[in-house]
Amino acid sequence: MPTTLFALLAREAAGSRRDIFLAVLISAAANTAILVIINNAAAALGKGAPDLRDVGLFLVALALYVLGLRYTFDSATRIFEHMLATIRIRLMAQIGHAELMALQKVGRARIFQAITQDLVIISESQGLLVAAAHSAVMVSCTGLYVLTLSMPAFLIIVGVIGAGVMLYLSRMAELNRLITASTTEEIGFIGMMSDLIDGVKEVKLSHARREALLAEIRSIAVRLRDIKMQTTSVYNSTALFSQSFFYMLLGLIVFALPSLVSGFAQHAPEMVATVLFIFGPLSTVITAVPAISKADRAAGSLIALEGEVSRMVTVPESIQPPAPLSFRRTLTCKAIEFSYPGEAGETFHIGPIDLTIRQGEITMFVGGNGSGKTTLLKVMAGLYPALAGALLIDGKPVAPGRRPNLRELFGGIFSDLHLFSKLYGITPDTDAIAAHLDRMRIADKVGYDDGFTTRDLSTGQRKRVAMLVTLLEDRPVLVFDEWAAEQDPEFRHYFYEELLPELKAAGKTLLIATHDDRYFGVADLVVKMEMGVVASTRRRKAMA
Ligand SMILES: Nc1ncnc2c1ncn2[C@@H]1O[C@H](COP(=O)(O)OP(=O)(O)OP(=O)(O)O)[C@@H](O)[C@H]1O
Ligand SMILES: [Mg+2]
Repeated sequence: MPTTLFALLAREAAGSRRDIFLAVLISAAANTAILVIINNAAAALGKGAPDLRDVGLFLVALALYVLGLRYTFDSATRIFEHMLATIRIRLMAQIGHAELMALQKVGRARIFQAITQDLVIISESQGLLVAAAHSAVMVSCTGLYVLTLSMPAFLIIVGVIGAGVMLYLSRMAELNRLITASTTEEIGFIGMMSDLIDGVKEVKLSHARREALLAEIRSIAVRLRDIKMQTTSVYNSTALFSQSFFYMLLGLIVFALPSLVSGFAQHAPEMVATVLFIFGPLSTVITAVPAISKADRAAGSLIALEGEVSRMVTVPESIQPPAPLSFRRTLTCKAIEFSYPGEAGETFHIGPIDLTIRQGEITMFVGGNGSGKTTLLKVMAGLYPALAGALLIDGKPVAPGRRPNLRELFGGIFSDLHLFSKLYGITPDTDAIAAHLDRMRIADKVGYDDGFTTRDLSTGQRKRVAMLVTLLEDRPVLVFDEWAAEQDPEFRHYFYEELLPELKAAGKTLLIATHDDRYFGVADLVVKMEMGVVASTRRRKAMA
Protein backbone atom coordinates (compact mmCIF):
# COMPACT_ATOMS: atom_id res chain seq x y z
CA MET A 1 0.00 0.00 0.00
CA PRO A 2 1.43 3.38 -0.93
CA THR A 3 0.69 4.70 2.56
CA THR A 4 2.91 7.79 2.30
CA LEU A 5 1.35 8.78 -1.00
CA PHE A 6 -2.11 8.28 0.53
CA ALA A 7 -1.05 10.33 3.56
CA LEU A 8 0.04 13.11 1.22
CA LEU A 9 -3.25 12.88 -0.69
CA ALA A 10 -5.23 12.84 2.55
CA ARG A 11 -3.41 15.96 3.71
CA GLU A 12 -3.67 17.88 0.45
CA ALA A 13 -6.92 16.66 -1.11
CA ALA A 14 -9.17 15.87 1.84
CA GLY A 15 -12.86 15.58 1.06
CA SER A 16 -12.71 14.72 -2.62
CA ARG A 17 -11.75 11.05 -2.28
CA ARG A 18 -15.05 9.37 -1.34
CA ASP A 19 -16.55 9.83 -4.80
CA ILE A 20 -13.49 8.26 -6.36
CA PHE A 21 -13.66 5.20 -4.11
CA LEU A 22 -17.30 4.80 -5.06
CA ALA A 23 -16.56 5.15 -8.77
CA VAL A 24 -13.72 2.59 -8.54
CA LEU A 25 -16.04 0.20 -6.76
CA ILE A 26 -18.80 0.60 -9.35
CA SER A 27 -16.51 0.29 -12.37
CA ALA A 28 -14.71 -2.76 -10.93
CA ALA A 29 -17.98 -4.49 -10.00
CA ALA A 30 -19.34 -3.76 -13.48
CA ASN A 31 -16.13 -5.16 -14.94
CA THR A 32 -16.63 -8.42 -13.04
CA ALA A 33 -20.29 -8.44 -14.05
CA ILE A 34 -19.17 -8.38 -17.69
CA LEU A 35 -17.19 -11.58 -17.04
CA VAL A 36 -20.09 -13.28 -15.30
CA ILE A 37 -22.58 -12.29 -18.01
CA ILE A 38 -20.24 -13.44 -20.79
CA ASN A 39 -19.50 -16.73 -19.01
CA ASN A 40 -23.20 -17.42 -18.45
CA ALA A 41 -24.14 -16.44 -21.98
CA ALA A 42 -21.34 -18.62 -23.40
CA ALA A 43 -22.49 -21.58 -21.33
CA ALA A 44 -26.09 -21.03 -22.53
CA LEU A 45 -25.12 -20.77 -26.21
CA GLY A 46 -25.89 -24.39 -26.90
CA LYS A 47 -29.47 -23.88 -25.77
CA GLY A 48 -30.41 -21.37 -28.46
CA ALA A 49 -30.31 -17.62 -29.18
CA PRO A 50 -28.85 -15.32 -26.51
CA ASP A 51 -31.28 -14.01 -23.90
CA LEU A 52 -32.15 -10.34 -24.57
CA ARG A 53 -32.05 -9.71 -20.81
CA ASP A 54 -28.38 -10.80 -20.83
CA VAL A 55 -27.66 -8.43 -23.73
CA GLY A 56 -29.29 -5.56 -21.79
CA LEU A 57 -27.37 -6.41 -18.61
CA PHE A 58 -24.17 -6.66 -20.59
CA LEU A 59 -24.67 -3.18 -22.09
CA VAL A 60 -25.50 -1.66 -18.69
CA ALA A 61 -22.41 -3.26 -17.11
CA LEU A 62 -20.26 -2.03 -19.99
CA ALA A 63 -21.61 1.51 -19.63
CA LEU A 64 -21.03 1.50 -15.85
CA TYR A 65 -17.53 0.17 -16.36
CA VAL A 66 -16.61 2.85 -18.92
CA LEU A 67 -18.29 5.75 -17.11
CA GLY A 68 -16.99 4.75 -13.69
CA LEU A 69 -13.43 4.38 -14.90
CA ARG A 70 -13.61 7.57 -16.93
CA TYR A 71 -14.85 9.51 -13.91
CA THR A 72 -12.11 7.99 -11.74
CA PHE A 73 -9.31 8.86 -14.17
CA ASP A 74 -10.55 12.42 -14.63
CA SER A 75 -11.03 13.03 -10.91
CA ALA A 76 -7.68 11.49 -10.03
CA THR A 77 -5.90 13.67 -12.59
CA ARG A 78 -7.64 16.74 -11.20
CA ILE A 79 -6.84 15.87 -7.58
CA PHE A 80 -3.23 14.94 -8.27
CA GLU A 81 -2.37 17.93 -10.43
CA HIS A 82 -4.12 20.24 -8.01
CA MET A 83 -2.16 18.76 -5.14
CA LEU A 84 1.14 18.94 -7.01
CA ALA A 85 0.59 22.56 -8.04
CA THR A 86 -0.21 23.42 -4.42
CA ILE A 87 2.96 21.71 -3.21
CA ARG A 88 5.08 23.31 -5.94
CA ILE A 89 3.78 26.78 -5.09
CA ARG A 90 4.02 26.22 -1.34
CA LEU A 91 7.55 24.84 -1.53
CA MET A 92 8.68 27.88 -3.51
CA ALA A 93 6.96 30.18 -1.01
CA GLN A 94 8.66 28.39 1.87
CA ILE A 95 12.02 28.71 0.16
CA GLY A 96 11.27 32.40 -0.34
CA HIS A 97 10.65 32.70 3.39
CA ALA A 98 13.36 30.30 4.57
CA GLU A 99 16.31 31.19 6.75
CA LEU A 100 19.39 31.75 4.63
CA MET A 101 21.65 29.50 6.66
CA ALA A 102 19.22 26.58 6.76
CA LEU A 103 18.61 26.79 3.02
CA GLN A 104 22.33 26.54 2.31
CA LYS A 105 22.38 23.40 4.42
CA VAL A 106 19.62 21.61 2.51
CA GLY A 107 21.38 22.40 -0.72
CA ARG A 108 20.27 23.11 -4.21
CA ALA A 109 20.57 19.50 -5.48
CA ARG A 110 17.96 18.19 -3.04
CA ILE A 111 15.48 20.94 -3.97
CA PHE A 112 16.09 20.41 -7.68
CA GLN A 113 15.58 16.66 -7.22
CA ALA A 114 12.24 17.31 -5.49
CA ILE A 115 10.94 19.68 -8.13
CA THR A 116 12.31 18.03 -11.25
CA GLN A 117 11.86 14.38 -10.23
CA ASP A 118 9.69 13.68 -7.19
CA LEU A 119 6.78 15.81 -8.40
CA VAL A 120 7.01 14.31 -11.89
CA ILE A 121 7.11 10.74 -10.54
CA ILE A 122 4.01 11.38 -8.43
CA SER A 123 2.22 13.01 -11.35
CA GLU A 124 3.02 10.06 -13.60
CA SER A 125 1.91 7.52 -11.00
CA GLN A 126 -1.68 8.69 -10.81
CA GLY A 127 -2.94 6.86 -13.91
CA LEU A 128 -1.29 3.65 -12.71
CA LEU A 129 -2.67 4.10 -9.23
CA VAL A 130 -6.22 4.37 -10.55
CA ALA A 131 -5.74 1.41 -12.91
CA ALA A 132 -4.22 -0.65 -10.11
CA ALA A 133 -6.99 0.24 -7.64
CA HIS A 134 -9.66 -0.60 -10.21
CA SER A 135 -7.92 -3.86 -11.10
CA ALA A 136 -7.42 -4.87 -7.46
CA VAL A 137 -11.12 -4.37 -6.70
CA MET A 138 -12.07 -6.15 -9.91
CA VAL A 139 -9.83 -9.13 -9.03
CA SER A 140 -11.42 -9.29 -5.57
CA CYS A 141 -14.94 -9.26 -7.08
CA THR A 142 -13.87 -12.00 -9.47
CA GLY A 143 -12.67 -13.96 -6.42
CA LEU A 144 -16.21 -13.79 -5.04
CA TYR A 145 -17.52 -15.10 -8.35
CA VAL A 146 -15.08 -18.04 -8.21
CA LEU A 147 -16.25 -18.67 -4.67
CA THR A 148 -19.83 -19.09 -5.87
CA LEU A 149 -18.60 -21.61 -8.46
CA SER A 150 -16.46 -23.78 -6.19
CA MET A 151 -15.27 -23.21 -2.66
CA PRO A 152 -12.26 -25.64 -2.80
CA ALA A 153 -11.14 -24.19 -6.14
CA PHE A 154 -11.39 -20.69 -4.65
CA LEU A 155 -9.22 -21.68 -1.69
CA ILE A 156 -6.59 -23.36 -3.86
CA ILE A 157 -6.44 -20.49 -6.37
CA VAL A 158 -6.29 -17.84 -3.64
CA GLY A 159 -3.61 -19.85 -1.83
CA VAL A 160 -1.47 -20.17 -4.97
CA ILE A 161 -1.89 -16.49 -5.90
CA GLY A 162 -1.18 -15.50 -2.27
CA ALA A 163 2.07 -17.48 -2.27
CA GLY A 164 3.05 -15.87 -5.56
CA VAL A 165 2.34 -12.41 -4.21
CA MET A 166 4.41 -13.10 -1.06
CA LEU A 167 7.35 -14.19 -3.20
CA TYR A 168 6.88 -11.12 -5.34
CA LEU A 169 6.82 -8.77 -2.34
CA SER A 170 10.04 -10.22 -1.00
CA ARG A 171 11.66 -9.28 -4.32
CA MET A 172 10.14 -5.81 -4.00
CA ALA A 173 11.99 -5.18 -0.72
CA GLU A 174 15.27 -5.73 -2.57
CA LEU A 175 14.04 -3.46 -5.36
CA ASN A 176 13.19 -0.70 -2.88
CA ARG A 177 16.65 -0.85 -1.34
CA LEU A 178 18.21 -0.48 -4.79
CA ILE A 179 15.95 2.43 -5.72
CA THR A 180 16.80 4.32 -2.52
CA ALA A 181 20.50 3.81 -3.24
CA SER A 182 20.07 5.12 -6.79
CA THR A 183 18.22 8.22 -5.54
CA THR A 184 21.15 9.07 -3.28
CA GLU A 185 23.57 8.69 -6.17
CA GLU A 186 21.30 10.80 -8.40
CA ILE A 187 21.34 13.66 -5.88
CA GLY A 188 25.13 13.41 -5.73
CA PHE A 189 25.26 13.48 -9.51
CA ILE A 190 23.03 16.58 -9.77
CA GLY A 191 25.30 18.33 -7.21
CA MET A 192 28.43 17.50 -9.22
CA MET A 193 26.72 18.50 -12.45
CA SER A 194 25.82 21.93 -11.00
CA ASP A 195 29.43 22.30 -9.89
CA LEU A 196 30.66 21.51 -13.38
CA ILE A 197 28.25 23.95 -15.05
CA ASP A 198 28.80 26.76 -12.51
CA GLY A 199 32.56 26.27 -12.65
CA VAL A 200 32.92 25.68 -16.36
CA LYS A 201 35.44 28.50 -16.84
CA GLU A 202 37.68 27.25 -14.04
CA VAL A 203 37.33 23.79 -15.55
CA LYS A 204 38.28 25.02 -19.01
CA LEU A 205 41.39 26.75 -17.70
CA SER A 206 42.84 23.68 -16.07
CA HIS A 207 43.24 20.29 -17.66
CA ALA A 208 44.13 18.74 -14.30
CA ARG A 209 41.09 20.23 -12.57
CA ARG A 210 38.79 19.08 -15.33
CA GLU A 211 40.15 15.56 -15.29
CA ALA A 212 39.94 15.28 -11.49
CA LEU A 213 36.38 16.63 -11.45
CA LEU A 214 35.30 14.45 -14.37
CA ALA A 215 36.88 11.43 -12.69
CA GLU A 216 34.71 11.98 -9.64
CA ILE A 217 31.62 12.55 -11.81
CA ARG A 218 32.45 9.40 -13.77
CA SER A 219 32.72 7.33 -10.63
CA ILE A 220 29.26 8.51 -9.48
CA ALA A 221 27.86 7.84 -12.97
CA VAL A 222 29.36 4.34 -12.97
CA ARG A 223 27.96 3.55 -9.52
CA LEU A 224 24.59 4.91 -10.67
CA ARG A 225 24.76 2.76 -13.82
CA ASP A 226 25.52 -0.39 -11.82
CA ILE A 227 22.69 0.24 -9.38
CA LYS A 228 20.29 0.99 -12.26
CA MET A 229 21.31 -2.20 -14.07
CA GLN A 230 20.87 -4.24 -10.92
CA THR A 231 17.48 -2.60 -10.34
CA THR A 232 16.31 -3.36 -13.87
CA SER A 233 17.56 -6.93 -13.63
CA VAL A 234 15.65 -7.55 -10.38
CA TYR A 235 12.63 -5.83 -11.90
CA ASN A 236 12.74 -7.92 -15.09
CA SER A 237 13.16 -11.22 -13.30
CA THR A 238 10.25 -10.29 -11.06
CA ALA A 239 8.08 -9.43 -14.07
CA LEU A 240 9.04 -12.71 -15.76
CA PHE A 241 8.23 -14.58 -12.57
CA SER A 242 4.73 -13.09 -12.42
CA GLN A 243 4.10 -13.99 -16.09
CA SER A 244 5.17 -17.60 -15.75
CA PHE A 245 3.26 -17.80 -12.51
CA PHE A 246 0.07 -17.22 -14.43
CA TYR A 247 0.76 -19.98 -16.87
CA MET A 248 1.36 -22.26 -13.90
CA LEU A 249 -2.00 -21.24 -12.50
CA LEU A 250 -3.73 -22.09 -15.80
CA GLY A 251 -1.92 -25.44 -15.86
CA LEU A 252 -3.08 -26.09 -12.32
CA ILE A 253 -6.70 -25.40 -13.26
CA VAL A 254 -6.67 -27.62 -16.34
CA PHE A 255 -4.35 -30.45 -15.29
CA ALA A 256 -4.44 -30.72 -11.50
CA LEU A 257 -7.64 -29.30 -10.02
CA PRO A 258 -10.11 -31.55 -11.92
CA SER A 259 -8.53 -34.64 -10.32
CA LEU A 260 -8.01 -32.97 -6.93
CA VAL A 261 -11.46 -31.40 -6.46
CA SER A 262 -14.53 -33.44 -7.15
CA GLY A 263 -17.07 -31.73 -9.42
CA PHE A 264 -14.45 -29.17 -10.56
CA ALA A 265 -14.18 -30.45 -14.12
CA GLN A 266 -17.57 -28.98 -15.09
CA HIS A 267 -16.37 -25.51 -13.99
CA ALA A 268 -12.92 -25.77 -15.62
CA PRO A 269 -13.87 -23.77 -18.80
CA GLU A 270 -15.32 -20.91 -16.67
CA MET A 271 -12.23 -21.00 -14.43
CA VAL A 272 -9.88 -20.79 -17.41
CA ALA A 273 -11.93 -17.92 -18.83
CA THR A 274 -11.86 -16.24 -15.42
CA VAL A 275 -8.11 -16.56 -14.97
CA LEU A 276 -7.52 -15.30 -18.50
CA PHE A 277 -9.91 -12.46 -17.75
CA ILE A 278 -8.09 -11.39 -14.59
CA PHE A 279 -4.66 -11.94 -16.10
CA GLY A 280 -4.57 -8.35 -17.44
CA PRO A 281 -5.88 -6.65 -14.28
CA LEU A 282 -3.67 -8.74 -12.00
CA SER A 283 -0.56 -7.92 -14.04
CA THR A 284 -1.64 -4.29 -14.01
CA VAL A 285 -1.59 -4.41 -10.22
CA ILE A 286 1.69 -6.27 -10.10
CA THR A 287 3.54 -4.17 -12.65
CA ALA A 288 2.14 -0.96 -11.15
CA VAL A 289 3.63 -1.82 -7.77
CA PRO A 290 7.21 -0.62 -8.56
CA ALA A 291 6.00 2.67 -10.07
CA ILE A 292 3.57 3.22 -7.22
CA SER A 293 6.14 2.41 -4.56
CA LYS A 294 8.52 4.78 -6.36
CA ALA A 295 5.83 7.46 -6.16
CA ASP A 296 5.34 6.53 -2.52
CA ARG A 297 9.01 7.13 -1.83
CA ALA A 298 8.90 10.36 -3.83
CA ALA A 299 5.98 11.43 -1.62
CA GLY A 300 8.07 10.53 1.43
CA SER A 301 11.06 12.56 0.31
CA LEU A 302 8.77 15.46 -0.61
CA ILE A 303 7.11 15.39 2.81
CA ALA A 304 10.55 15.25 4.46
CA LEU A 305 11.88 18.13 2.36
CA GLU A 306 8.79 20.23 3.03
CA GLY A 307 9.15 19.49 6.74
CA GLU A 308 12.77 20.60 6.67
CA VAL A 309 12.07 23.69 4.62
CA SER A 310 9.09 24.71 6.76
CA ARG A 311 11.21 24.35 9.90
CA MET A 312 13.58 26.85 8.29
CA VAL A 313 10.85 29.43 8.36
CA THR A 314 11.42 30.41 11.98
CA VAL A 315 9.27 33.50 11.73
CA PRO A 316 6.02 32.85 9.90
CA GLU A 317 5.61 35.75 7.55
CA SER A 318 2.10 36.95 6.90
CA ILE A 319 0.71 37.87 3.53
CA GLN A 320 0.67 41.46 4.73
CA PRO A 321 3.99 43.20 4.14
CA PRO A 322 5.82 43.64 7.45
CA ALA A 323 5.82 47.27 8.49
CA PRO A 324 9.36 48.65 8.64
CA LEU A 325 10.48 49.51 12.16
CA SER A 326 10.79 53.17 12.94
CA PHE A 327 14.43 54.18 13.00
CA ARG A 328 15.38 57.69 14.04
CA ARG A 329 18.61 57.74 15.98
CA THR A 330 20.65 54.61 16.53
CA LEU A 331 21.14 51.01 15.45
CA THR A 332 23.00 49.16 18.20
CA CYS A 333 24.62 45.75 18.44
CA LYS A 334 24.58 44.68 22.07
CA ALA A 335 26.86 41.70 22.72
CA ILE A 336 25.80 40.22 19.38
CA GLU A 337 27.13 36.75 18.61
CA PHE A 338 26.77 34.49 15.60
CA SER A 339 28.35 31.22 14.37
CA TYR A 340 28.06 29.34 11.12
CA PRO A 341 26.84 25.86 11.97
CA GLY A 342 29.74 23.59 10.94
CA GLU A 343 30.06 19.83 10.81
CA ALA A 344 33.24 19.31 12.83
CA GLY A 345 34.18 22.27 14.97
CA GLU A 346 35.56 24.38 12.10
CA THR A 347 32.87 27.01 12.64
CA PHE A 348 33.54 30.70 12.36
CA HIS A 349 32.27 32.76 15.24
CA ILE A 350 31.67 36.48 15.50
CA GLY A 351 31.18 38.49 18.64
CA PRO A 352 30.37 39.44 21.21
CA ILE A 353 30.06 42.70 19.31
CA ASP A 354 29.07 46.01 20.86
CA LEU A 355 28.61 48.78 18.38
CA THR A 356 26.38 51.76 17.80
CA ILE A 357 25.59 53.11 14.34
CA ARG A 358 24.06 56.54 14.10
CA GLN A 359 21.22 57.30 11.76
CA GLY A 360 22.28 59.31 8.73
CA GLU A 361 25.96 58.48 9.02
CA ILE A 362 28.42 56.63 6.85
CA THR A 363 29.95 53.69 8.73
CA MET A 364 32.75 51.72 7.10
CA PHE A 365 33.63 48.17 8.11
CA VAL A 366 37.24 47.40 7.38
CA GLY A 367 39.60 44.52 8.16
CA GLY A 368 41.26 41.55 6.53
CA ASN A 369 39.60 38.88 4.43
CA GLY A 370 37.50 36.58 6.55
CA SER A 371 37.47 38.95 9.51
CA GLY A 372 33.66 38.82 9.57
CA LYS A 373 32.53 42.06 7.90
CA THR A 374 30.01 40.48 5.56
CA THR A 375 28.77 38.15 8.30
CA LEU A 376 28.20 41.01 10.74
CA LEU A 377 26.35 43.05 8.10
CA LYS A 378 24.10 40.08 7.36
CA VAL A 379 23.31 39.71 11.07
CA MET A 380 22.60 43.43 11.38
CA ALA A 381 20.30 43.35 8.35
CA GLY A 382 18.37 40.47 9.92
CA LEU A 383 19.46 37.91 7.30
CA TYR A 384 21.14 35.73 9.94
CA PRO A 385 19.61 35.37 13.41
CA ALA A 386 21.92 36.44 16.26
CA LEU A 387 22.71 33.51 18.57
CA ALA A 388 23.17 35.79 21.56
CA GLY A 389 22.87 39.46 22.33
CA ALA A 390 20.40 41.84 20.75
CA LEU A 391 19.97 44.43 18.06
CA LEU A 392 18.51 47.66 19.35
CA ILE A 393 16.84 50.34 17.32
CA ASP A 394 16.64 53.71 19.03
CA GLY A 395 17.51 51.81 22.22
CA LYS A 396 14.67 49.29 21.89
CA PRO A 397 15.56 45.62 21.33
CA VAL A 398 14.29 44.07 18.08
CA ALA A 399 12.38 40.94 19.10
CA PRO A 400 13.32 37.81 17.09
CA GLY A 401 9.81 37.79 15.63
CA ARG A 402 10.38 41.29 14.28
CA ARG A 403 13.32 40.37 12.06
CA PRO A 404 11.13 40.62 8.91
CA ASN A 405 10.28 44.17 9.96
CA LEU A 406 13.94 44.89 10.58
CA ARG A 407 14.80 43.65 7.07
CA GLU A 408 12.32 46.10 5.58
CA LEU A 409 14.62 48.91 6.76
CA PHE A 410 17.53 47.58 4.73
CA GLY A 411 18.44 47.81 1.11
CA GLY A 412 21.76 47.26 -0.48
CA ILE A 413 24.12 45.04 -2.33
CA PHE A 414 26.10 42.13 -0.94
CA SER A 415 29.18 40.86 -2.70
CA ASP A 416 27.34 37.67 -3.75
CA LEU A 417 24.48 39.66 -5.28
CA HIS A 418 21.89 38.20 -7.60
CA LEU A 419 20.39 40.32 -10.33
CA PHE A 420 16.78 39.45 -11.10
CA SER A 421 15.52 39.86 -14.63
CA LYS A 422 12.84 42.31 -13.50
CA LEU A 423 12.31 44.97 -10.86
CA TYR A 424 10.24 42.60 -8.71
CA GLY A 425 8.42 44.43 -5.93
CA ILE A 426 9.20 47.88 -7.30
CA THR A 427 6.72 49.77 -9.45
CA PRO A 428 9.01 50.93 -12.21
CA ASP A 429 8.92 54.59 -13.11
CA THR A 430 10.36 54.84 -16.61
CA ASP A 431 11.87 58.28 -16.09
CA ALA A 432 13.47 57.34 -12.79
CA ILE A 433 14.93 54.18 -14.34
CA ALA A 434 16.33 56.12 -17.29
CA ALA A 435 17.83 58.73 -14.96
CA HIS A 436 19.49 56.11 -12.77
CA LEU A 437 20.82 54.15 -15.77
CA ASP A 438 22.35 57.41 -16.97
CA ARG A 439 23.75 58.16 -13.59
CA MET A 440 25.31 54.68 -13.39
CA ARG A 441 26.66 55.25 -16.90
CA ILE A 442 25.28 52.03 -18.33
CA ALA A 443 22.37 53.49 -20.31
CA ASP A 444 24.17 52.58 -23.55
CA LYS A 445 24.53 48.97 -22.41
CA VAL A 446 21.28 48.02 -20.74
CA GLY A 447 17.72 49.28 -20.79
CA TYR A 448 14.51 48.34 -19.06
CA ASP A 449 11.35 47.23 -20.81
CA ASP A 450 9.32 44.96 -18.57
CA GLY A 451 12.69 43.52 -17.58
CA PHE A 452 16.33 44.35 -18.07
CA THR A 453 17.20 44.12 -21.74
CA THR A 454 20.27 42.05 -20.87
CA ARG A 455 21.96 40.45 -17.89
CA ASP A 456 25.07 39.50 -19.83
CA LEU A 457 27.13 42.14 -18.11
CA SER A 458 30.53 42.46 -16.51
CA THR A 459 30.66 42.17 -12.72
CA GLY A 460 31.15 45.93 -12.37
CA GLN A 461 28.21 46.59 -14.70
CA ARG A 462 26.00 44.13 -12.85
CA LYS A 463 26.79 45.93 -9.64
CA ARG A 464 25.80 49.23 -11.26
CA VAL A 465 22.46 47.74 -12.29
CA ALA A 466 22.07 46.42 -8.73
CA MET A 467 22.77 49.97 -7.53
CA LEU A 468 19.92 51.23 -9.71
CA VAL A 469 17.61 48.65 -8.11
CA THR A 470 18.74 49.73 -4.64
CA LEU A 471 18.27 53.41 -5.37
CA LEU A 472 14.79 52.81 -6.75
CA GLU A 473 13.90 50.74 -3.70
CA ASP A 474 14.88 53.68 -1.53
CA ARG A 475 15.32 52.03 1.88
CA PRO A 476 16.48 54.02 4.94
CA VAL A 477 19.56 51.86 5.66
CA LEU A 478 21.83 50.85 2.80
CA VAL A 479 24.48 48.14 2.94
CA PHE A 480 27.20 48.13 0.31
CA ASP A 481 29.49 45.16 0.69
CA GLU A 482 32.64 45.89 -1.34
CA TRP A 483 30.46 47.41 -3.99
CA ALA A 484 33.29 49.45 -5.51
CA ALA A 485 35.77 46.55 -5.69
CA GLU A 486 35.12 45.95 -9.40
CA GLN A 487 34.61 49.58 -10.42
CA ASP A 488 37.13 51.53 -12.48
CA PRO A 489 39.07 54.24 -10.57
CA GLU A 490 36.89 57.00 -11.94
CA PHE A 491 33.62 55.39 -10.93
CA ARG A 492 35.06 54.26 -7.59
CA HIS A 493 35.85 57.90 -6.94
CA TYR A 494 32.30 58.82 -7.93
CA PHE A 495 30.90 56.19 -5.54
CA TYR A 496 32.87 57.33 -2.48
CA GLU A 497 33.11 61.03 -3.11
CA GLU A 498 29.76 61.81 -4.71
CA LEU A 499 27.19 59.05 -4.41
CA LEU A 500 27.75 58.21 -0.73
CA PRO A 501 27.72 61.86 0.43
CA GLU A 502 24.63 62.44 -1.71
CA LEU A 503 22.83 59.48 -0.11
CA LYS A 504 23.94 60.66 3.30
CA ALA A 505 22.58 64.11 2.55
CA ALA A 506 19.29 62.44 1.62
CA GLY A 507 19.18 61.02 5.15
CA LYS A 508 20.32 57.45 4.42
CA THR A 509 22.29 55.45 6.92
CA LEU A 510 25.14 53.77 5.07
CA LEU A 511 26.98 50.61 6.10
CA ILE A 512 29.95 50.00 3.84
CA ALA A 513 32.31 47.01 3.92
CA THR A 514 35.46 48.02 2.11
CA HIS A 515 39.19 47.58 1.58
CA ASP A 516 39.55 50.98 -0.16
CA ASP A 517 41.70 52.65 2.51
CA ARG A 518 42.15 55.84 0.50
CA TYR A 519 38.48 56.61 0.99
CA PHE A 520 38.23 55.79 4.71
CA GLY A 521 38.10 59.57 5.26
CA VAL A 522 34.59 59.68 3.79
CA ALA A 523 33.29 57.68 6.78
CA ASP A 524 31.88 59.15 9.97
CA LEU A 525 32.84 55.97 11.76
CA VAL A 526 35.39 53.33 10.77
CA VAL A 527 34.91 49.92 12.41
CA LYS A 528 37.89 47.62 12.16
CA MET A 529 37.10 43.90 12.35
CA GLU A 530 39.59 41.20 13.29
CA MET A 531 38.77 37.52 13.64
CA GLY A 532 35.09 38.09 14.20
CA VAL A 533 35.32 40.89 16.73
CA VAL A 534 35.55 44.67 16.57
CA ALA A 535 39.25 45.44 17.04
CA SER A 536 38.83 49.22 17.08
CA THR A 537 36.48 52.00 16.08
CA ARG A 538 37.58 55.40 14.91
CA ARG A 539 35.23 58.35 14.71
CA ARG A 540 35.88 61.28 12.42
CA LYS A 541 36.74 64.37 14.34
CA ALA A 542 33.58 66.28 15.15
CA MET A 543 32.55 68.36 12.18
CA ALA A 544 29.02 69.33 12.80
N1 LIG B 1 27.95 30.36 4.46
C1 LIG B 1 29.00 30.15 5.27
N2 LIG B 1 29.09 29.00 5.97
C2 LIG B 1 30.13 28.79 6.80
N3 LIG B 1 31.12 29.66 7.01
C3 LIG B 1 31.09 30.82 6.34
C4 LIG B 1 30.02 31.13 5.43
N4 LIG B 1 30.24 32.36 4.93
C5 LIG B 1 31.40 32.79 5.48
N5 LIG B 1 31.90 31.88 6.32
C6 LIG B 1 33.13 32.01 7.13
O1 LIG B 1 33.04 33.15 7.91
C7 LIG B 1 34.28 33.85 7.94
C8 LIG B 1 34.03 35.32 7.76
O2 LIG B 1 33.54 35.55 6.46
P1 LIG B 1 33.05 36.98 6.00
O3 LIG B 1 32.49 36.80 4.65
O4 LIG B 1 32.18 37.56 7.04
O5 LIG B 1 34.41 37.77 5.96
P2 LIG B 1 34.71 39.23 5.38
O6 LIG B 1 35.31 40.00 6.48
O7 LIG B 1 33.51 39.77 4.73
O8 LIG B 1 35.83 38.88 4.33
P3 LIG B 1 36.12 39.53 2.88
O9 LIG B 1 36.92 40.76 3.11
O10 LIG B 1 36.93 38.47 2.23
O11 LIG B 1 34.81 39.77 2.23
C9 LIG B 1 35.14 33.22 6.89
O12 LIG B 1 36.24 32.60 7.54
C10 LIG B 1 34.31 32.18 6.23
O13 LIG B 1 34.99 30.97 6.18
MG1 LIG C 1 32.99 40.13 2.74
